[in-house]
Amino acid sequence: MSANPTSREESFLVTGGTRLAGEIPVAGAKNSVLKLMAVALMARGRTTLTNCPAISDVPAMADVLRHLGCTVEITGDTVSIDTPAEVGHVADDKAAQRLRASVCILGPLVGRYHRAVIAMPGGDAIGSRPLNWHQTGLTLLGATTRMDHGRLVAEADRLTGARYGLKFPSVGATETFVTAAVLAEGTSVLENAAREPEIVDICTLLAKMGAKISGAGTSTITIEGVDELRPVSHRVVGDRIVAATWAMGAVMTRGDVTVTGIDPMNIHVVLENLRAVGADVETGEDRVRVRQEGRPIARNIRTLPFPGFPTDLQPMAIALASVSDGLSVVTENLFEARFRFVEEMIRMGVDAETDGHHAKIRGRERLDSATVWASDIRAGAGLVLAGMCADEVTEVCEVFHIDRGYSDFVGNVRSLGGVIERVDTSR
Ligand code: EPU
Repeated sequence: MSANPTSREESFLVTGGTRLAGEIPVAGAKNSVLKLMAVALMARGRTTLTNCPAISDVPAMADVLRHLGCTVEITGDTVSIDTPAEVGHVADDKAAQRLRASVCILGPLVGRYHRAVIAMPGGDAIGSRPLNWHQTGLTLLGATTRMDHGRLVAEADRLTGARYGLKFPSVGATETFVTAAVLAEGTSVLENAAREPEIVDICTLLAKMGAKISGAGTSTITIEGVDELRPVSHRVVGDRIVAATWAMGAVMTRGDVTVTGIDPMNIHVVLENLRAVGADVETGEDRVRVRQEGRPIARNIRTLPFPGFPTDLQPMAIALASVSDGLSVVTENLFEARFRFVEEMIRMGVDAETDGHHAKIRGRERLDSATVWASDIRAGAGLVLAGMCADEVTEVCEVFHIDRGYSDFVGNVRSLGGVIERVDTSR
């Protein structure tokens, strides 16, 4: 797996004017594999995950687990985690702060060891990221939580089943509650649970390990506590956000892309939107072909929890609107700061304005190439797609963000015919 941490000073140079075409396989989902690695803390012995993506967040999570006492090997697309009988419960501050997803060790540690100490993650480029609903879930199961010198401390003498109704179907709060409840005494019920395919994947792994869970993928998840879990092997679900990135790139560049390794149902709403802007979409069991002739038509899009249009594709939706014919309104309902992306699109000559939850974008036939900044993984990918629709060479700076979530981004873009190069701008 080639996922060495990359320099903050690396940029992508993207030459506009090419059309994306060809077939591209998609690896396992970032937002599943990191959680599955954390779930390995819950069973003594070796858990093996296959179809893992070569992204920099995977070795970062491996470091978090190593600091707790696990042995982690990464070979090709396989990650093996050996968990000893006892692991530490204090996450290394620096290892954890490099990776916001380190929050996902909270539920597994409290579930199996009844205690966890993790550095409180701050807000990030996409907005504030509080943990209050994670804490409420743990408290209902019998734990206490408190802040201590910038760390969240959770402790319990015993965990007992509880009923919890989430105010909003938070992905992270669902994971924390479910992972802590699987080893609690008695029955737990989570209402208004997140329904994302990655939640289903985590519950599938837990069930293989011996957990008793029903309702994953629906709004109500029921968990009967068991005494222990056993380690198993599991194949990570395909990354729907990466798959949809290439599909949206095909539409923006008037190309023809087939993405494999993905259940089309996991991007059903995205594909409906692509059909509505004029794309020809064909689906198979584990593949999607998206073709676009002519200019896409403007369309209003609003982000929502699954099965709605994913917030992680909001930058791509804005990039698509920027080259569509007409006025599009994109509404963001999850992460308020994601509209910073619009400022980068304005550098590329787009007529756009934001107002709270809404961005209004009037598309152009072709964008102006410019120097633009990736503020997070998805904004970075959206800017590359925009760069492919620009007149000359666009420099996308700080692409270490993209490396956190996309395996071999340059290789994949080139395999589809895009013209892109990674450069070190520190020299
Ligand atoms: N929220 C709270 N309190 C909480 C938890 C969440 O107010 O205790 C709020 C958040 O501030 C946000 C909303 O609830 O406004 C949704 O947050 P959620 O908990 O669902 O998000 P998350 O678990 O922190 C995951 C993904 C994100 C993805 C969101 C939504 C991981 C590691 N991250 O975050 O992915 O955008 O779900 O689908 O799974 C990305 O991959 O680029 C990324 C940011």
